[in-house]
Amino acid sequence: GAKARGANLVPDGWTSRLGVILAVAGSAVGLGNFLRFPGQAAANGGGAFLIPYFISLLVLGIPLCWAEWAMGRYGGSRGFNSAPGVFACIWRHRFAKYLGVPALLIPLVIYMYYVVIEAWCLGYALNYLSGDLMLGKGADQYGQFFNNFVGADSDGTLFTAGNRSLLWMVLGVFALNFVLIYRGVAKGIESFCKIAIPLMAVCALCVLLRVLTLPAHESGRTLNEALGFMWNPDFSALWKPDTWLAASGQIFFSLSVGFGIIVNYASYLKRKDDVVLSGLTAASMNEFFEVCLGGLITIPAAFLFLGATVGSQGTFGLGFNALPNVFAEMPAGRLFGFLWFFMLFLAAITSSLSMLQPVIAFFEEGFGLKRPVSAALLGLISALGCGFVLYFSKGMVALDTFDFWVGTALIVVLALIQSLLYGWALGIERGAQIAHEGAKLRIPHVVQLMLKYVVPVYLVAIFIASLRQDL
Ligand code: PHE
Repeated sequence: GAKARGANLVPDGWTSRLGVILAVAGSAVGLGNFLRFPGQAAANGGGAFLIPYFISLLVLGIPLCWAEWAMGRYGGSRGFNSAPGVFACIWRHRFAKYLGVPALLIPLVIYMYYVVIEAWCLGYALNYLSGDLMLGKGADQYGQFFNNFVGADSDGTLFTAGNRSLLWMVLGVFALNFVLIYRGVAKGIESFCKIAIPLMAVCALCVLLRVLTLPAHESGRTLNEALGFMWNPDFSALWKPDTWLAASGQIFFSLSVGFGIIVNYASYLKRKDDVVLSGLTAASMNEFFEVCLGGLITIPAAFLFLGATVGSQGTFGLGFNALPNVFAEMPAGRLFGFLWFFMLFLAAITSSLSMLQPVIAFFEEGFGLKRPVSAALLGLISALGCGFVLYFSKGMVALDTFDFWVGTALIVVLALIQSLLYGWALGIERGAQIAHEGAKLRIPHVVQLMLKYVVPVYLVAIFIASLRQDL
């Protein structure tokens, strides 16, 4: 029935198809593509990781993407933009709106620490610009610089000398996010992504070209060996459940699926706007950035200069310690260092914007607040959370804890909720009808069947496996 009507009947919305695709791709392409993916692939079988990775993409990622796009636009056409509202349109039960709560909590909590890493990236870019990060060869300096910059070696408070510059950086990045989000979906998010994504692609391609044309290192390691280190398959990894877990976790994180973000973004579409091709395009752009750019830059470059020790560097170690060593040795390293960290910053801010919008939409819709009040309230809550992360940032404990509970457990729960809503509450026949409205491309029927039967079972299996792994 179309009885339920949201508050937001004259919504702010996307002004072009390219705009919404770039905004969703902006959400998807982020630190996950350039830092998380290479680390996961190297740790889980190298080239062999791509097998579970692409299976997860086809079985979980793309089907759930389409379900989120379709449900979001459906809710939007009834005047709802927040996940609780959208879910209540799909399942007419008074309990349905509570199922949307994880879709608000996940982006909000991730924002609290993601914005800190975003500030690291901008800080590093500026330090390359000023030349302060050209410390010469030697792994130690960069580790020290990093610890000092992020406050990991201080007593853990915001106000020690080491991380005062970080504090300013976080404040600036925080303010920029809120300025953009306050301007709204079209004037803020869309217009920013239209500039930031092409710029990010140019920066990434420059760094990639530089890496792929690097001469052999003085230690004798060649680029070929470096690519081999990243990509030579270790098929034994396929027998470990952890590899499959890591692959599906990476797909969720990277595509921004299971976060309730696509539901919100798609709710700003018009009724006849295509979701099938747009969803596929945004997902493909993400895969290009992840496999082609993320997969060929980070680890190969680090291996070439540092050798096999890069395998043990960890996600942040790779980006913030190993790569500065690489830039120190390569010709025009200062320029490429700047391009790399500026590119990471752009990737991060287009993602963090997408974490704020779902919550803003909920404040407006659920509590009837005006945009300035919603933005102020969200600013207050997220600043408190972010302060908490910074305050306890020593050794990055707070960051890891948040990332584990929200990034591992809650995402799978929300993805399960969404597949059940689409496959069972809405039903795949209705679902297909809704998704195909305005679309030239048809979703294969087997994808619908997967959403109804395979995805929920797969997700429950992953959930149990991940709990067993962590207990
Ligand atoms: N997909 C983003 C990345 O790859 C991360 C992200 C998480 C974005 C949650 C939005 C919401 O970095």
